Amino acid sequence: MHNSELHQLRSQAVPRGVPATAPVYAARARNAVITDVEGRDYIDFAAGIGVMNVGHCHPRVVEALKEQAELFSHTCFGLTGYEPYVRLAEKLNRLTPGDFEKRTFFVNSGAEAVENAIKVARYATGRKSIVAFEDGFHGRTYMTLSLTSQVDPYKVGFGPYASDVYRIPYAYCYRCPLALSYPSCGCRCASLLENAFDKHVNADDVAAVIAEPVQGEGGFIVPPPEYMGKIMKICEEHGILLIADEIQSGLGRTGKWFAMEHWGVTPDIVVTAKALGAGLPIAGVTGRQEIMDTVHPSGVGTTFGGNPLACRAGLAVFDIIESEGLLERATVVGDRIRDRFRAMQARYPAIGDVRGLGGMAAMEFVEDRETKKPAGDLAKAYRAKLYENGVVNVGAGTYHNVIRILVPLTIEDPTLERGLDIMEQTMAQVS
Ligand SMILES: Cc1ncc(COP(=O)(O)O)c(C=O)c1O
Repeated sequence: MHNSELHQLRSQAVPRGVPATAPVYAARARNAVITDVEGRDYIDFAAGIGVMNVGHCHPRVVEALKEQAELFSHTCFGLTGYEPYVRLAEKLNRLTPGDFEKRTFFVNSGAEAVENAIKVARYATGRKSIVAFEDGFHGRTYMTLSLTSQVDPYKVGFGPYASDVYRIPYAYCYRCPLALSYPSCGCRCASLLENAFDKHVNADDVAAVIAEPVQGEGGFIVPPPEYMGKIMKICEEHGILLIADEIQSGLGRTGKWFAMEHWGVTPDIVVTAKALGAGLPIAGVTGRQEIMDTVHPSGVGTTFGGNPLACRAGLAVFDIIESEGLLERATVVGDRIRDRFRAMQARYPAIGDVRGLGGMAAMEFVEDRETKKPAGDLAKAYRAKLYENGVVNVGAGTYHNVIRILVPLTIEDPTLERGLDIMEQTMAQVS
């Protein structure tokens, strides 16, 4: 079937609320290239929104899946256990930040992991309130949507939201909430958390602060190096748990196993998903043993969570990242992308900011570099043209004016350069 026929069928079968970036339907994919049903190749600069860190159809993932499919595909871990679940939990316990005893359980999606992290944090502390950040994204279920900041399109028309969620500005230096400049600001925005304890919520009522170390959907916002440490310290002073949402930034994406490692921050709970299963749905909740073990048996769990196929894929992901040096590769690839973006920025005033960390790279479009008025329409036109020109891409930013790049970390150099050339040519077309 052709793309257009499938697109027509889709319009009759799938509601319009499910995003449709382009009328393109995949037939197969290998590493960083997706081939559509008409045989056209697209360079994958989105990795299924940060999922395919080890590339599409990595032979070791495929082999593990085939092997497991022949053995069994489901028992429900709570009824009959199996080794891949335990081994994957062990891996996360060992590699998430913090040299202390941890426990991990698995669910099916990023949002479900965040939901469970909140449940555990409330249970363990006996407190009810949660503090989240502006421009943060944690999912589309009701609790996670309540934590998510961006209104359009996520929150329009879906209220009411969960109570006891409070929000403070993040360290978004390009658009500083305090109109200061780093480093002379002394990273004062971290004190907005303490400010919230005077103006919004009693610190003793706060169970957890939840933060993306690098905000993903918000536009790859990287805080100054000392920011997260300051947030962690304030949390410690008040007996508040720090939950790191590493769903997008984890699993090698930023050049470390987990982004919080860049700043020596050891969260109490870490949530993972996306790249963990190389495309199979799985998400993890990892936390300090004494926190995780407070919850009574059957207080958490799910039918499919930690499905054996997904766990086998997860174990293969860890092996591939280790054996193929993908942590180092993430930094090399991200630096290369940012270099090319900076060269473009020198020529195109609409590129207001180039930023990122390791293999997270982004450009923010503005109408004017002085006023920094977001150029959402330009970003939209650019992204559409880019797709037409053969590069799968994903947007971001509260004002839809950011293009974020999440290539498979296994991408070959010629494919990366070809994709970047297309990005440059496309910029010339839309400017
Ligand atoms: C940081 C972050 N948290 C949570 C989620 C929600 O994950 P899922 O879409 O798997 O529910 C996402 C998804 O983009 C994310 O980027």
